Amino acid sequence: MPDIAFINGRFLPWEEATVSIDDRGFQFGDAVYEVIRTYRGSPFELTAHLARLDRSARELSLRQPYTGVQWTRWIQQGLSLAGYQDAKIYIQLTRGVAPREHSFPSDILPTVVMTIRKFHSLAPELRRAGVSACTREDLRWGRCDIKSVNLLANVLAREEAKKAGVFETILVRDGFVMEGALSNVMAVQDEVVITAPEGPRILSGVTRTVVLELAKKDDIAIEERFIPVDLLYRADEVFLTGTTLEVLGVVQIDGKIIGSGQPGPITKALAARWALLTG
Ligand code: PDD
Repeated sequence: MPDIAFINGRFLPWEEATVSIDDRGFQFGDAVYEVIRTYRGSPFELTAHLARLDRSARELSLRQPYTGVQWTRWIQQGLSLAGYQDAKIYIQLTRGVAPREHSFPSDILPTVVMTIRKFHSLAPELRRAGVSACTREDLRWGRCDIKSVNLLANVLAREEAKKAGVFETILVRDGFVMEGALSNVMAVQDEVVITAPEGPRILSGVTRTVVLELAKKDDIAIEERFIPVDLLYRADEVFLTGTTLEVLGVVQIDGKIIGSGQPGPITKALAARWALLTG
């Protein structure tokens, strides 16, 4: 079964799927993206991902070439060509191709790229045991709510995690937790789930929204407010959410043990709810 590449309305062999060196996605990171995964062949929360793609594009005055219906058709076609049950769909929309000049060129068409690859789930042992994380200063720009391909600060943060031998870097601004380099962060204190509020400082994760809904259905209290780092260290539980991670317990941060040192009961309950929803 092949990995699938799609550029501007055409499915292409991987080696032929190339874009111009004048593409503004390459030159300026002038582009937005989405990562969607399938469960048993079906894209999870597709409507929410496409709505976020639309919003990201709109916020940057970037032309969105396809409607939701058209996107859905391309994705379905790509999925049937790939044939994977568990797939990772990557969509990127750039402002298009033009000689390099910072301001927007007039009258250019956006570049649309989509890839579909096999999705490899995290090892079950990692889920059972939980992961460790480090904290670092959040070096990103002021519009983290836009899912832009300008990921340099996230890339550097991930590299910090690798150097520290931990799973994820938690980004901190002025002593408060924003989110992970590629995840949202939630803490549990006295049976209340606390997570950073939506706004320009975080990406409003699709997984975050679903997990908060699952918590509400289970009568688990939620508070959307920024968590001070010292409270994070002292939290009963900490977990990450994200398309590729689902609900993932964090058991150690900056070398400090969180709670019992194992994924806690609320983390486990929400992970079980997630498994029910997607299984
Ligand atoms: N990242 N915050 C950041 C900074 C992210 O990059 C992501 C996802 C999330 C979680 O969002 P969602 O639940 O919608 O996946 C939060 C994707 C998976 C990535 O860049 O690969």
